[in-house]
Amino acid sequence: MSKISVIGAGNVGASCAEYIAMKNFAAEVVLLDIKENFAEGKALDLMQTAALNGFETRISGSTNDYSKTAGSDVVVITSGVPRKPGMTREELIGINAGIVKGVMGNCLKHSPEAVFVIVSNPMDTMTYLAMKTSGVPAHRIIGMGGALDSARFRHYLSTALSAPAFEVEGMVIGGHGDTTMIPLTSKASYKGVPASQFLSEDVLGKVKADTMVGGATLTGMLGTSAWYAPGAAVTAVVQSIVCDQKRMIPCCVSLNGEYGQSDICIGVPVILGKSGWEKIVSIELNEAEKAEFEKSANAVRNMNAALDSVLSA
Ligand code: APR
Repeated sequence: MSKISVIGAGNVGASCAEYIAMKNFAAEVVLLDIKENFAEGKALDLMQTAALNGFETRISGSTNDYSKTAGSDVVVITSGVPRKPGMTREELIGINAGIVKGVMGNCLKHSPEAVFVIVSNPMDTMTYLAMKTSGVPAHRIIGMGGALDSARFRHYLSTALSAPAFEVEGMVIGGHGDTTMIPLTSKASYKGVPASQFLSEDVLGKVKADTMVGGATLTGMLGTSAWYAPGAAVTAVVQSIVCDQKRMIPCCVSLNGEYGQSDICIGVPVILGKSGWEKIVSIELNEAEKAEFEKSANAVRNMNAALDSVLSA
């Protein structure tokens, strides 16, 4: 059984701890936050659900005491500032870069072998920053955006198909931004049958468009960014790692020539197991998708350029 630390006990961090406990696959979850007593409070509240929900996972909280995270198998980094209505994920870069860099350094002192799952936005750039500044091998740094975007894609597909979401497959690759993500409609399927056999091009186009603004739609409705689907997406990634499930999940990882890209972290399908991302799965893209991927990579790369001052500090 495993130990998982979640840095940032806010909306996403706490929902992630809740789903991990409900799935009962980890011995221990440590929530850590910078706000005095906040993680402790979330942990206590969650532990008071154990008798009702029947899980054995021990959840504890800590205010900035990284020694409590020692020996973690996986560290999830959600610490940072979430989006407000009208804000893009990219606008968060300056604040969150400093937070993510500092948090990684603190975690590594106590869990040098951990796999890191990055949630803080702009996620592709924060994953790249984590990789560039931490010295952790690339296969142990994973941005979770594609897992979330693919879940949202499957939701909109299932609604259009009037089918249960778990019978519908679909992947989103590329950047984790409203204009950079690429829902692969050509590969979406319902019980193995291409979704295009059931849905018109127009409907598939609408599913794609709804997926791309999936997060922004919720930010507009909630006044802050969403947490249930992000928490569940992180949980799926963490479970595949600690339980060595070898699931194929689109995640943001470092590319070294795959998909024609290098020196970038961006969403592609990967196999997730005990050692982190174990393999990048190369899937055939059509010409339009290849062009979209290149455009997406260029946008992510432009965003990464904003890190120059952090990287040289
Ligand atoms: N160390 C530890 N915790 C921190 C730090 C830090 N240096 N800085 C901020 N935090 C904590 C905050 O105190 C807060 O409790 O991170 C938590 C973030 O939680 P929320 O504000 O509720 O944000 P949330 O919706 O969970 O989003 C977290 O994920 O989806 C992304 O864009 C989102 O970057 C944001 C992140």
